[in-house]
This record gives sequence, structure tokens and C-alpha cells, in this order.
Amino acid sequence: MLLKGKTAVVTGCNRGIGKAILKKFAENGADVFACVRKETDEFQERIKNLSEQSGVEIIPLYFDIRDAEAMKNAVGQIRKSHRKIDILVNNAGMISANLLFHMTPIENMRELFEVNFFAQIRLTQYISRLMQKNPDGGSIIFMSSIAALDGSPGQLEYVGSKAAVLGATKTLAREFGAYNIRVNAIAPGLIETDMGNQVDDKMANEIIDHSPLRRWGKPEEIANVALFLASDLSSYVTGEFIRSSGGGV
Ligand SMILES: NC(=O)c1ccc[n+]([C@@H]2O[C@H](COP(=O)([O-])OP(=O)(O)OC[C@H]3O[C@@H](n4cnc5c(N)ncnc54)[C@H](OP(=O)(O)O)[C@@H]3O)[C@@H](O)[C@H]2O)c1
Repeated sequence: MLLKGKTAVVTGCNRGIGKAILKKFAENGADVFACVRKETDEFQERIKNLSEQSGVEIIPLYFDIRDAEAMKNAVGQIRKSHRKIDILVNNAGMISANLLFHMTPIENMRELFEVNFFAQIRLTQYISRLMQKNPDGGSIIFMSSIAALDGSPGQLEYVGSKAAVLGATKTLAREFGAYNIRVNAIAPGLIETDMGNQVDDKMANEIIDHSPLRRWGKPEEIANVALFLASDLSSYVTGEFIRSSGGGV
């Protein structure tokens, strides 16, 4: 129960890594504002069961992170709850279309940056203001990628957006340290999710063949890293990224 008494905001938690983080946080005692794009019966049922099994509150917030007005309304609901916010996980994201550099329209790059960078920064602006009122401080986690560290052919805008997130991590860690708000990032390797499965087979095999653990990662393994960064176990860690890729590059 590493997060008992804490409240988290997690984006993109209907599937993939975000789904695993929501489960992990709930099982560790956190109440969660679960941000997803669409309301579905399947998601409602899942959070109802998880909430009952874990004895925590899971409050769904429905918005597309590109929609500034919808995000503002969702944050309004968080504010009205008068809860102290301890954790923000900027997890929602998208991958690029796998076009070589000369074939990639600048417009594609802007669209992807809107989701993978600007929307996350906008949400962080809102939530960090709430966290600054929390006497216990807080933990902000960005989801970057090993692609930001090592490059990835055909994915310039994805790599750029994930590198931008690392820059934000370093900068916000410095700005928010005075409020005891820690800011860190996770750089996953190939993880078994819908997004991971979109990676070209040849490239995926090369990555796995060259990684010491020689296997794909599981969403739960990234959720464990998020749990460490969200909890007081990492109380003296800020401005860092944790590569979680089975040693792969
Ligand atoms: N899987 C990997 O190998 C890998 C590696 C490195 C980094 N990452 C990063 O880890 C994070 C999670 O990835 P994943 O593998 O779990 O991906 P995923 O299975 O494709 O899930 C992506 C999540 O982001 C949400 N999302 C995307 N665009 C959104 C928008 N405009 N508004 C609201 N929600 C939006 C999706 O919601 P919908 O269901 O509504 O589309 C979904 O919940 C991403 O930031 C990704 O870049 C993943």
C-alpha cells in the first residue's frame, strides 16, 4: 500500500500502460481521477470492480487531451472535489505514421506534438497549480521513450515529442523543487500494447535481439516503475528519467 491516502490523476488509462498504472495505483491505495477519451460500458465496469476490490475511489474524467475546453472542464471537476492532488501521470500518447524524414509533412509533426507534448504541458500547468497547494508536495511523471534517447528512423515527430518531454522533466523539476514537487520521466522500450504492436516487425526484432533481456516488456513492468516514482520510495529523486527497456537501445 505504497500510495495509501494519496490521490492521483492518470491519463490514457483505458488500455495499455495507463490501464496497468491505474490498477497498480488502486491496488496500492491511491484514489484516482482516471482520464480517458471515451465513456464505455467496459471501462465503467472495470473501474467499478477495481474500486470495490481495492477499497479506493476511482473517478472517471472523459476528455480528449487535444480539446483545451474539455480539459479545463475536467480540471474544474478535480478542483471542485477539494482533494489534495499528489500524483500526475502524463501517460496518454500516440505514435507516428512511420514515414521517412523527407516524406513527413510538418503538419503531421504538429498534430503529434499537440498530443504528446502540448496537451501534456497544458494539463501539467493546471495540475501543478493544485499540487502547489498541497503541503506534502507531489510527484509528476511523464511517459517518454527510449526512442527519445537513441533515435528511431521514420519516427522523427514521435522521437522529438518524447525528447521534448524529457526537457520539460528537467526544467520543471528545477522550477517545482521549492514546492517539494518531484518531476521524473519513464523511458520504456518495446512494451506489449497496441502501440508497441504498431512498431515494424523488422525493427522490433532488431531491438529485442540486441537487448540483454531479449524480450518485450509488459505494461505491468512500466506500472511498477511509475509506482516507485509516484511513491515516497523515490522521495530524493527528481529531474531524472528511468530507462525501462530490458537493457535495450
Ligand atoms: N508501448 C510501447 O512500446 C511504448 C514505448 C515507449 C513509450 N510508450 C509511451 O507510453 C504511453 C502509453 O503507451 P501505450 O503503449 O499504452 O499506448 P496505447 O496502448 O496505444 O494507449 C494509448 C493511450 O493514450 C490514449 N490517448 C491517445 N491519444 C489521446 C487523446 N488525444 N486524448 C486522450 N487520450 C488519448 C489512448 O486512448 P484511446 O483508447 O481513446 O485511443 C490510450 O489510452 C505513451 O505515451 C507512449 O508513447 C509506449
